[in-house]
Amino acid sequence: MKLSNFGEKFTSQAGITSLMDDLGNALSSGSDMIMMGGGNPAHIPEVQAVFKKRLSDILASKQDFQRLIGIYDPPQGSIEFVKSMCQLLNDQYGWGLGPENIALTNGSQAAFFMLFNLFAGDFSDGSQKQIQLPLAPEYIGYSDAGLVDKFFKANRPTIDHLDSHTFKYHIDFEQYKAPSSVFSTTGAICVSRPTNPTGNVLTDDEVSRLDALAKRHDVPLIIDGAYGTPFPNLIFTQAQPVWNENTILCLSLSKFGLPAARTGIVVAEEKVIKALSGVNAIMNLATGSFGSMLAHDLVKTKEIIRLSNDVVRPYYLEKAQKAECLLKTKLEGLPYALHKIEGAMFLWLWLKDCPVSNQELYERLKAKGVLVVSGHHFFPGLDSVDDATWQHKKECLRITYSQDEALVEKGLSIIAQEIHQAYQEK
Ligand SMILES: Cc1ncc(COP(=O)(O)O)c(C=O)c1O
Repeated sequence: MKLSNFGEKFTSQAGITSLMDDLGNALSSGSDMIMMGGGNPAHIPEVQAVFKKRLSDILASKQDFQRLIGIYDPPQGSIEFVKSMCQLLNDQYGWGLGPENIALTNGSQAAFFMLFNLFAGDFSDGSQKQIQLPLAPEYIGYSDAGLVDKFFKANRPTIDHLDSHTFKYHIDFEQYKAPSSVFSTTGAICVSRPTNPTGNVLTDDEVSRLDALAKRHDVPLIIDGAYGTPFPNLIFTQAQPVWNENTILCLSLSKFGLPAARTGIVVAEEKVIKALSGVNAIMNLATGSFGSMLAHDLVKTKEIIRLSNDVVRPYYLEKAQKAECLLKTKLEGLPYALHKIEGAMFLWLWLKDCPVSNQELYERLKAKGVLVVSGHHFFPGLDSVDDATWQHKKECLRITYSQDEALVEKGLSIIAQEIHQAYQEK
């Protein structure tokens, strides 16, 4: 079988593929691997009860059941859902959106694939543009989403040492000061807020400076709100959500509790929504109806916001605080630092000067039955930066704390033991 360039690119081993393979194997029946690697959200009983009830109401109605399984939605997604989402966002933030500003996609991952390739890659005038990731480390799922090579450009962050064991990344705006060389090949800027893998939440000032940069260079600013506001609102600090005609905000129902329903929500100017709907029609014909049907009432009544604020966010915050406290105790005496936990569902652990690389630690932990993710995967756009010149890439691990408490505790104990062992290998 001879594959096209597309075939070669998308079948070669990608970070996201190996991560999803590990995840799948770990979740497959019979495996007792402690899963602290993926971004699978927790099974929150109160949220699941709401969806169970909704599903049984749908099943009890012949018309709703037929819609659930038997009717194609338009490529923009269910119009009723889009209208209710529009109302919710307008009431919440006063953004003045119309239904022409919102499209649904089959998961926000699919939205990134479409958006990135709409704004970067090869252009008819022979030029090539890239997606600019102003803050590395960034979401592993972006890494292989480009149709051409060298699709991302990223910038190293500045590191703010908050105390001896806590740090926070910031965007290094100094790197953008030089007139516009950085942006001459930029097709769009993209950031996740909160950031996967670090749990960083860009400050309002950082977002407004990015917004200004994007407008100045006439490129859109894509904000990935998969963990953000207004749902699932896994934000533990103060952060103002923003949208304007130059912003493309990507939301998702996954981290609220519906990852299997594959529902992404894109908020953008009408031209972008039309383009997305067009690509969606070609790739998928229609958007899946399952997520929008299950969640429509929650959006219409704004119950999704109450549940996010009163149930989902506190659930993860408590888990974060417990995991942080446990890990800090277990790592006492070592020169580690944790990224300040500001949101999402991960601990980003920096093992300073550790003689064992993060990939090796990942392998050792996997052999001991704990799955984490080696931090080196999270540098799309900086892959070619030599690890020797930036040791940091080899020193971080991402640890997910969203699963069952007893398992998280057991997993953290094994992780800490292995790290103590690693430092002794000096
Ligand atoms: C930062 C970020 N963005 C986007 C996604 C994609 O989520 P989904 O396709 O389930 O909406 C994920 C999934 O883990 C993520 O962590």
